Amino acid sequence: MSKLRIISVVGARPNFMKVAPLHREFLNYCNSVEHLICHTGQHYDYEMSKVFFDDLGLPEPDFYLGVGSDSHGAQTGKVMIEFEKVCFESQPDVVIVVGDVNSTIAASLVACKLGIKTAHIEAGLRSFDRTMPEEINRIATDSICDFLFVTEESGRKNLLKEGHPEEQIFFVGNTMIDSLVSILPKINESRIISILDLSEKDFALMTLHRPSNVDNKEQLLKILEVIEFICDNLTLILPLHPRTRKNIETFGFKSRLERIQSLVITEPLGYIDFVKLMKHSKFVITDSGGIQEETTFLGIPCITMRTTTERPITCEIGTNLLVHPEKRNLVKAVEHVLLEKDKKYQIPPFWDGKAASRIVSILLNKCLKK
Ligand code: UD1
Repeated sequence: MSKLRIISVVGARPNFMKVAPLHREFLNYCNSVEHLICHTGQHYDYEMSKVFFDDLGLPEPDFYLGVGSDSHGAQTGKVMIEFEKVCFESQPDVVIVVGDVNSTIAASLVACKLGIKTAHIEAGLRSFDRTMPEEINRIATDSICDFLFVTEESGRKNLLKEGHPEEQIFFVGNTMIDSLVSILPKINESRIISILDLSEKDFALMTLHRPSNVDNKEQLLKILEVIEFICDNLTLILPLHPRTRKNIETFGFKSRLERIQSLVITEPLGYIDFVKLMKHSKFVITDSGGIQEETTFLGIPCITMRTTTERPITCEIGTNLLVHPEKRNLVKAVEHVLLEKDKKYQIPPFWDGKAASRIVSILLNKCLKK
């Protein structure tokens, strides 16, 4: 009997943590499954890509498409052209795509059109804001994939509302949390707290990269003012995403940022160092998707600088506070979080480190040639 050949596609930073636990799980079935990894190269800097392979113990990708940065259309198109060649050459039985980045929609379009069974991990999340490129990627990917694996109840409801049948939807939990659970015992190895000369719970951590926050000069200025406010109160660590770094320079904010005492700007950090900082921070302030989930799991207060979230469970029962990214609102939220003590929160159902095992067992049950 020939093995089931599965290709998982990764492209950008948040994808790597979602695929690593699946890869580990597939190794338990190496007699019946060949699991291959295709890296599109959407993210290519060491700090945005390779460091995650190292930290997560992922092997070198089996295919590297090297698409790099470009406009949305060009980046998506390049992934499609190159990934189609991979599919022709290696004839996978199943393609797995994760998250909501351009590589996700590109690879699923290719696979579905070739009649390859396609699974979407983290399906059903909706911000209902179609100005976000990720929202378009989510809707389009879900509408064509065969298996839809969801991380929270809202995902299931959204998919049902969009007309997907129950049989296609699987509420399995969160593979990003699987990675977090497996990395936690390793964060003691990280020296980042002492390298940055910090004391535990005496600093805040910020990430910032959404186009809606950093591509517009006035909006970025508002956030810069919030950074100044935070730094009047405590040390702030800001690992700078390349998009944000570029815009800070283009808009002429570099010297103003450099003048802020208590602001520590770093390169994008590896996974182990970043989780260590999250776990020991007083609070996290972010516009990311996944960090809303990681902070909820860790019980660390999180201020999300966005108008919407596609991960409502993190606000409903977790530690997340969704705040419209205006200076007044953000300053109020920071003051609130600094005063708050022992907020009650819960970890969402199935965020238990076992999502990958559920996904793999469902996929093998459905796809193994009997
Ligand atoms: C992408 C995802 C976003 C995800 C984010 C995580 C889409 C539409 N967006 O956004 O959902 O939250 O990744 O980081 O897929 N760059 C580098 N080095 C790199 C990667 C990017 O310098 O390794 C620069 C490029 O100049 C590029 C810019 O950063 O123009 C943005 O990269 P891109 O992948 O287009 O989008 P992100 O903003 O990273």
